[in-house]
Amino acid sequence: MIIFNNGKYKSILAAEAGELATIAKCVNTDQDFRPHYHIAPPTGLMNDPNGLIFDGEKYHLFYQWFPFDAIHGMKHWKHLITHNFQQFQSADDLIPCELFESHGCYSGGALKVGDKLAMFYTGNTRRATDNQRVPYQNLAIFDLDGKLLSKRPLIENAPAGYTEHVRDPKPYFADNGKIRFVCGAQRENLTGTAIVFEMDNLEDRPRLLGELALPAFDNRDVFMWECPDLLKLGEQDVFIWSPQGKARESLQFQNNYHAVYALGKLDGLDFHAETIQELDQGFDFYAPQTFAGLSNQQQAILYGWIGLPDLTYPTDKYKWHSALCLPRELRLQGKHIYQRPIPAIYQSLSNSTSYQVHGQTEIANLDRAYLSFEVQNQPFELRFFTNAEGEHLTLSYQDGVLSLDRTHSEQTELMRKFDSQRHCEVKNLHKVEIFFDRSIMEIFCNDGEKAMTSRFFIANRAMCLHSSRPLTLAVAYPQGITYTGQ
Ligand code: FRU
Repeated sequence: MIIFNNGKYKSILAAEAGELATIAKCVNTDQDFRPHYHIAPPTGLMNDPNGLIFDGEKYHLFYQWFPFDAIHGMKHWKHLITHNFQQFQSADDLIPCELFESHGCYSGGALKVGDKLAMFYTGNTRRATDNQRVPYQNLAIFDLDGKLLSKRPLIENAPAGYTEHVRDPKPYFADNGKIRFVCGAQRENLTGTAIVFEMDNLEDRPRLLGELALPAFDNRDVFMWECPDLLKLGEQDVFIWSPQGKARESLQFQNNYHAVYALGKLDGLDFHAETIQELDQGFDFYAPQTFAGLSNQQQAILYGWIGLPDLTYPTDKYKWHSALCLPRELRLQGKHIYQRPIPAIYQSLSNSTSYQVHGQTEIANLDRAYLSFEVQNQPFELRFFTNAEGEHLTLSYQDGVLSLDRTHSEQTELMRKFDSQRHCEVKNLHKVEIFFDRSIMEIFCNDGEKAMTSRFFIANRAMCLHSSRPLTLAVAYPQGITYTGQ
């Protein structure tokens, strides 16, 4: 075991006595923005969900984590186990402590093999002579209680034809019973793709099978694919990934990077897509992953990172950054994926009340409330949280487009750089659901036809909303989550 401690490449094993407690104190001075029922890091920065797996009894989830600050430093995998998505128990983290992961344990996925959990991940390393990045694809074995048993490198370096940007292995069982994993990659001509490896069993050496072919996707300007995920949903195959470089459009691909799904048939390495769509059209959503090990693939459960690479947030000064979205159930409706929080979230709702709103209305604890309302396809404008400084958030619907505007709220320069409005086309809007959680907002249209997930930062917010027309709001409160052992 090596205890790395080199600038921002510092492992948690190198923490000085009391160091993390001091950082946690700083996090706790944030009275405004810490979420109540979304997963957020105890300290530091979190990004992608990793290693999501149902082991037959409980759900294991990890996330990318740098414990010491709100920056992308040495990546660890923070491990949580839950039965119910409400109480989360800590288990062994994946901590970089070998040369094949010297600059961080990057993203990856999980597979249950026998009574073990196999975590495939990228070991980020840098060559000492010239600081050149060298990606390893590694395997860590955990038992079902969440104890780390072993780690080993599977592949050293990128295969010929690809740059050093090969990462985020997501494993699955192929129809031939073998283990395959798909990695995001960049070709030597600087275009994005995904490549697939195969191994007979966990002791085997992986062989490169080739690229996943997805000709239906417009890959123009796309320089990298991150976080690929292949799954089955009913009779359909689904490919979820995060392409980087797509040109901004007025009603889609509005962020710097995007999370996309393709729905169709996977034939060997050829993906025949019938639908390709962005998964979420809010300001902050990236690198989603689905749970392996769910026997009923009629529905899949997905977590995404409420954040994006290269973004800063106002909470950075409190030394924490980002959160995970609510666990989302994916459901097929025709050739379209619908997304909604899993039933356990709805079952946890309490204190349901109904409000008739028109003009200004006060709603207790609006900033951690669930709201649901019917709009009969008619225009509306809702303004939330207007405070003494005039800060607020606006959600409006007009001419088949739902728009979220955070212009009049606190933003970092980088947030502003990518614009302060997001639009989502919903031709027939009947129902809107909003989950507010202090600095997080998840919006679902028409029972999950479209989703918009965003951060917003309004300190001293008033628990009120203003509606441009009469609406009946159902309001209730999701239960807060609890952590043990962290
Ligand atoms: C996506 C990503 C992955 C990488 C990880 C590092 O957000 O860039 O490609 O493995 O984050 O934290």
